[in-house]
Amino acid sequence: MKVVEVSLGERSYPIHIGSGILGGLQERLLQEATGSKLLLLSNPTVYSIYGPVVERAIEGASLQRSLVLIPDGEQYKDYFWAYHILTRMLQDGLDRGSLLIALGGGVIGDIGGFVASVFMRGIAYVQVPTTLLAQVDSSVGGKTGVNHPLGKNMIGTFYQPRFVWIDVQTLRTLPEDQFRAGMAEVIKYGVIWDREFFQYLRSNHRQILGLQPESLEQVVQRCCQIKAEVVSRDEREAGLRAILNFGHTVGHAIETATSYRGYLHGEAVAVGMVAEAWLAHRLGLLSETEAGEIEETIRSYGLPVGIPKEIEVSRMLSYMTLDKKARAGRLRIVLPEGIGRVRVQEITEEGLLEETLRALQRV
Ligand code: NAD
Ligand code: GLY
Repeated sequence: MKVVEVSLGERSYPIHIGSGILGGLQERLLQEATGSKLLLLSNPTVYSIYGPVVERAIEGASLQRSLVLIPDGEQYKDYFWAYHILTRMLQDGLDRGSLLIALGGGVIGDIGGFVASVFMRGIAYVQVPTTLLAQVDSSVGGKTGVNHPLGKNMIGTFYQPRFVWIDVQTLRTLPEDQFRAGMAEVIKYGVIWDREFFQYLRSNHRQILGLQPESLEQVVQRCCQIKAEVVSRDEREAGLRAILNFGHTVGHAIETATSYRGYLHGEAVAVGMVAEAWLAHRLGLLSETEAGEIEETIRSYGLPVGIPKEIEVSRMLSYMTLDKKARAGRLRIVLPEGIGRVRVQEITEEGLLEETLRALQRV
């Protein structure tokens, strides 16, 4: 088993990564639990596959568990479900010493972390992420939250888990499009931080897409190391943490222009990274070869690299401008200056951005 430490003073915690380690959760729970009660939060899809193993671990740790399954889908990551979970916790007599386990993808992890952060002013929680996106991104770093009709992730907290338990074998049952979408975030880490890792992803895509356990462990470990490093330097996104948004400015505009239907988040980020890489090239920050390598790598993982004709570029631009208004009138985008290095750049020439997006409609 590999262990990555997130260093945040007294809020530091380990991320455990391995293949087939889900049952081993029992021992770790025994060390962590201070009370006798625990809430297991999941959804029916994940619980039907991994519930039994996790239930045995909880039973082995002699913890009295309550179970809440929320329906499967982003639309249930909302305040009403958070309230429902809190109600069940009160009804079942959970207290300050109780523990919460979030078993599932980013939706379960985000709402679980949020509930743990507000129940009795905060109880301990554990992330057991089962999607690639959750294993490399959402379960690490302590951003929790729920959506509001007026905006995604608009209600939330920064609240770190006690530990993260990642079994890469759970990725075997993940739908292929979800796995590929998670790969977009994986490639992102290579571009923003680690050229060598980016090359590893280029040379090992057959092993990775074939879900070879050692490659998956290596990939998840490196992503967690990078995220841990960024978060420990800038927990609350005062500066550096923003680099994790590479690909997300254009990606978010695509998601908004398609009303969050038709694109998985990672797929929109994939197109966003291609667009932002070519924008960096047009601005003279990135060589044509490197922008091409980024596009090529994204394509090799079966991710989209072009913008469909049906999406109006003018609409995308106006969404980005709206975003800009929300941030003191300046459009700032994370752009690569080379593979493994990014900067946050203020965009003054919006014409170049428009040209870049239009060029991607011909891909
Ligand atoms: P998700 O949680 O909806 O999971 C995707 C689908 O896969 C769901 O249908 C789920 O039931 C299913 N699933 C999960 N694990 C499975 C498995 N092992 N086998 C079979 N099916 C499985 O989506 P996601 O992509 O994991 O997460 C998206 C969410 O994460 C969004 O709400 C986003 O806002 C959030 N997010 C948060 C952060 C953060 O820092 N907190 C970062 C990125 C994304
Ligand atoms: N997903 C971006 C962050 O955790 O900051």
